[in-house]
Amino acid sequence: MEAEKKAIFSGMQPTGMPHLGNYLGALKNWVALQDEYRCVYCIVDMHSLTVRQDPAVLRRRSRELLQMYIAMGLDPEKAIIYFQSHVSGHAELAWILNCFTYMGELGRMTQFKEKSQKNSDNINAGLFTYPVLMAADILLYNADLVPIGDDQRQHMELCRNIALRFNNIYGDVFTVPEPYLPKIGARIMGLAEPERKMSKSDGANENNLIYLLDKPELIMKKFKSAVTDSGNEVKYSSDKPGISNLLVIYSAATGVDISQAENEFEGKGYGFFKQAVGEAVIEFIKPIQRRFEELNKDKDYVDAIIRANGEKANAIASRVLRKVKKKVGFPAV
Ligand code: TRP
Repeated sequence: MEAEKKAIFSGMQPTGMPHLGNYLGALKNWVALQDEYRCVYCIVDMHSLTVRQDPAVLRRRSRELLQMYIAMGLDPEKAIIYFQSHVSGHAELAWILNCFTYMGELGRMTQFKEKSQKNSDNINAGLFTYPVLMAADILLYNADLVPIGDDQRQHMELCRNIALRFNNIYGDVFTVPEPYLPKIGARIMGLAEPERKMSKSDGANENNLIYLLDKPELIMKKFKSAVTDSGNEVKYSSDKPGISNLLVIYSAATGVDISQAENEFEGKGYGFFKQAVGEAVIEFIKPIQRRFEELNKDKDYVDAIIRANGEKANAIASRVLRKVKKKVGFPAV
């Protein structure tokens, strides 16, 4: 039975607390997949090193992200949740795959071009080979499906090309993965800039994002200062990006569909509506925050999860890596 389930792999960088956009757009979906698939969810701390990190902050955030995975409802007995740096196979396979990836391919990656513009004082080789490490992540677990956002499509395509290239030379070693674009994911826009996706990377304005650990008062303050549109009707419409985004958030937080919500707030005005969205979001994330706090106090439990899941991940990765090493001609140990 187990063996028939398809395998899912995805990863997230531990560079900050996830926000509502991450949660509703991706993470909530990860939870929904854990029964139907063999899921492996990695905290890709090695990828984060491509940009300078404060060691203490990186360590704390990595742990917090793992706790957040559990708080959101990932079951560490079902899904494997672990740190990339705990499984040395990622680095080993990345090296091997580097030798099957062309400079030209990596130079075409739009994310590399963007990131090297942003970090012009630190264009390190890791930034360049970032997609190869990502390919290693995925191929090490023979993933069939990889839930990703739009910004990772090009990296996925490269991963598939590397897998196909390798398989052409050595036989069927890797499962060639497919990107998985979630059916139930909501696209959440910034509260202050509703024309753009909610994202921390270029968010000068902190009111733009709701972090999953924001305190209720702060959440309310952010919603109250959310940008609305001209007029006063709570209607979903392309010329009302601010109100439409709030409707999407309200609907996701309450399960009420958008047209129902429009009826509910007819004639009520923007101020009343924004307050209601704030309250809905506070209620919606309260159980997650509570569970996170519990885990924060239970160091031993979290440590045990980290150890057990790291071992499970390592067991899968080593099997695949052993096969790869044999295929390329490394002497048997
Ligand atoms: N590059 C991905 C991102 O920034 C994170 C990531 C690393 C990833 N390895 C992965 C995602 C493997 C999916 C599968 O979002």
